[in-house]
Amino acid sequence: MPEVSPDDFRGALASWASGVTVVTTKLDNLVYGITVSSFASLSVDPLLITVSLADSNHLPGMIKKSRQFAVSILAAGQQDVSAYFARSGRDPQPEFETPVKARPWHTGSPIIEGAIAHLDCELEQAIQGGDHTIAVGRVVGAAFDVSKQPLVYFRRAYRSVSEVSHGG
Ligand SMILES: Cc1cc2nc3c(=O)[nH]c(=O)nc-3n(C[C@H](O)[C@H](O)[C@H](O)COP(=O)(O)O)c2cc1C
Repeated sequence: MPEVSPDDFRGALASWASGVTVVTTKLDNLVYGITVSSFASLSVDPLLITVSLADSNHLPGMIKKSRQFAVSILAAGQQDVSAYFARSGRDPQPEFETPVKARPWHTGSPIIEGAIAHLDCELEQAIQGGDHTIAVGRVVGAAFDVSKQPLVYFRRAYRSVSEVSHGG
């Protein structure tokens, strides 16, 4: 089997267009969150979703202790929020800094104001996947805003959705 080069691996994965989420939790009165595109729906009965979180940052360890997390699906125009939560070297703190506005939801995890949708989750399972933790969340709150468009990430750049017309 030929070896896969890191460039080919990254290039192939960058070809996957995705939405952009911010995954957050609260532990001991400190909040933390990171930008996450590895969000997926998993099950309808029970209601489950997954996110894959690098073990190199604070979030997986905090979620394993708090047993809860929230997913905010970002809206078009929230690139500054995505950039804030993608910045390296941040530590958990009592609240997020400007420009982020957040408020606690059912579980106490903060949700991001202005997002297109929110999911509040209790941790169902944490599965090791290489250097990431796959957090399986049982959904205990869900809300969405049909008036907003999503933020899209493709080939390392933020994009917006353009309408596709169906011929025929
Ligand atoms: C669009 C986008 C998607 C991302 N998706 C993920 C992801 O799915 N899982 C993850 O662990 N990190 C993801 N990241 C990176 C984290 O947001 C980033 O590493 C983290 O905020 C910084 O943590 P650090 O202090 O450990 O470097 C993504 C970043 C961007 C810009």
